Amino acid sequence: MKRERLDKVLANMAIGTRKEVKALVKQRLIVVDGVVATDPGMHVIAEEQEILVDGEPLNFKRWVYVLLNKPPGVVSATEDNVHETVVDLLPYEWAIKVHPVGRLDIDTEGLLLLTNDGHLSHSLLSPKKKVDKEYFARIEGRVTERHVQEFAKGVELEDFTTLPAKLEIISSGETSEIRVTIMEGKFHQVKRMFAAFDLHVVYLQRIRMGPLHLDPSLAPGEYRELTEEELHMLQNVNK
Ligand code: URA
Repeated sequence: MKRERLDKVLANMAIGTRKEVKALVKQRLIVVDGVVATDPGMHVIAEEQEILVDGEPLNFKRWVYVLLNKPPGVVSATEDNVHETVVDLLPYEWAIKVHPVGRLDIDTEGLLLLTNDGHLSHSLLSPKKKVDKEYFARIEGRVTERHVQEFAKGVELEDFTTLPAKLEIISSGETSEIRVTIMEGKFHQVKRMFAAFDLHVVYLQRIRMGPLHLDPSLAPGEYRELTEEELHMLQNVNK
């Protein structure tokens, strides 16, 4: 377990900035293992030691894993000069440390994982792991068996040819509803795959990433922490 500066631990738990934490120490409001802290730079093992902030125990958690049902209109980034970002939807103590695992377009909805666990996020995004992603989409135009077969062969785009993708038709007509599973996560990939057949995606929602499903009880904009089981499945994905 890691020994870290007390002020760093407290800032990371959103107790305040390092400067504010220093002031709390000066006011003798921080107690470590029953002893009033006098040095904001003292080293602690946050997982093991009891830290009280103004009498309240610090519920230290190093890793945060959040499942968000991304609404349309927000960008999958931690900062943006124009638009609201996905982290703006989260409580401050999570927002200051997590990043989105991959990106959904601004108009795409659905499952987005956010974490401060770089190792997990790297492994889920690694092309070698081939973590599949499933989307529900509404398409302007008629999606047919021919498209199912073309997707199964892989679709040639300007910059690459996709791996075989599984396309399932839910309904086909002037507007069609489909589910599609892809193995990569390239920029605008689903939209570009349909555009290759002159079909236009009018609604796109991610419903699954590897073993992790969108929770139907989460309305757009809502989030929750992963369960132990979900986390375990993600950590063991395609091992
Ligand atoms: N494919 C897209 O075109 N957009 C997304 O947001 C995700 C996959």
